[in-house]
Amino acid sequence: MADIKGKRILLGLTGGIAAYKSAELLRQLQQDGADVQVVMTQAACGFITPATLQALSGKPVFTDMWDARVASNMAHIELSRDKDAIVVAPASADFIAKIAHGLADDLLSTLCVARECPLLVAPAMNRQMWENAATRRNIEQLQRDGVTILGPASGDQACGEVGMGRMLEPEEIADALRAFFAPKLLAGRRVLVTAGPTFEAIDAVRGITNLSSGKMGYAVAQAALDAGAQVTLVSGPTALKAPPAAKFVGVTSARDMFAAVKRHVAGTDIFVSVAAVADYHAANPSRRKIKKSDRNVTLELAPNPDILAWVAGLPKPPFCVGFAAESEKLEQYAEDKRRRKKLPLLAANRVQEAVGADENELVLLDDGGRHVLPRAPKSVLAQQLVAHIAKLYERTSGKR
Ligand code: C5P
Repeated sequence: MADIKGKRILLGLTGGIAAYKSAELLRQLQQDGADVQVVMTQAACGFITPATLQALSGKPVFTDMWDARVASNMAHIELSRDKDAIVVAPASADFIAKIAHGLADDLLSTLCVARECPLLVAPAMNRQMWENAATRRNIEQLQRDGVTILGPASGDQACGEVGMGRMLEPEEIADALRAFFAPKLLAGRRVLVTAGPTFEAIDAVRGITNLSSGKMGYAVAQAALDAGAQVTLVSGPTALKAPPAAKFVGVTSARDMFAAVKRHVAGTDIFVSVAAVADYHAANPSRRKIKKSDRNVTLELAPNPDILAWVAGLPKPPFCVGFAAESEKLEQYAEDKRRRKKLPLLAANRVQEAVGADENELVLLDDGGRHVLPRAPKSVLAQQLVAHIAKLYERTSGKR
């Protein structure tokens, strides 16, 4: 996930019950290092007080066009001049209608009309209001005008109805903002990612798996999306929520994963094999639950296909990136693996530190040598890895 550290954001609140969530959004943006200025409409002040947002942001909150606190008395222009983006969350049906038509009758709408920076809006309204023909037209108009629409989501509504129109959660809006600011290093590229463990059935209820959480693979998928790529994520069983913008293919065994990769690899520019694929499967799995007995049991294991080696061996392979989790002689074993599988790039990590954790440390091995990515959250490492992939991909794309 890209960085919003130092970004200057004008956070606009309009009248909707979701306004209380904007306090949390403000906190998240600040925790990420953004500099946030809050502006509220009169209607927003009916749902949450400016004092709350003022206390959280540590800055005066503006609600009025004629506020004399802005030096030039030109609040409607000045407040957005040095901003990197305006984010309106929640954006009511009324406010969306206003900006779709260029109306400017209060501070926030005037700031939107007078802005020089990008505008992102997170709609929040009752499902009938969201489905209303006029709202549909207004949203389409905003999209044509280059405004980014974040959400809405579907679910329970404050009015007791269920449907489309809920504002995205603060964390989702913060994620969308980070994605918005990420450099589009992989714009137009198609990226296929494998992630998570595989599960190899022994009988109807038992199987062989490993401790991979899928966190690194999902972070790579998200970072590639943020970099503008079209992403397919083939994942073994995990407890994670897939990035909504990725095409998600859920699989169980290594052989399922192989079949899914074969189905989706055509047209792929970059293949990132993060999955901890089981090396073996049970040669004769039982359809029934195996009964307990007092005798020793022998389990015969047969090797699984090496998915990455197969993709790298295609006549015109995509740019292939492997992962190697080693418990000893990290770089030596990883470099051997890279050469054996004929990979332009391999990310090596220590099993003890990487598996299941939120943070990791990577050593990237390529034809140019080694590059250490020091300990950081997996989301940050994924971003750095994607930047490295984009650089190598551009360098070698002429040769493919
Ligand atoms: O298991 P190994 O250490 O060989 O894994 C190295 C790389 O190969 C990883 O990127 C992994 O996703 C991939 N791999 C695979 N199919 C296998 C085994 C590993 O794609 N059967």
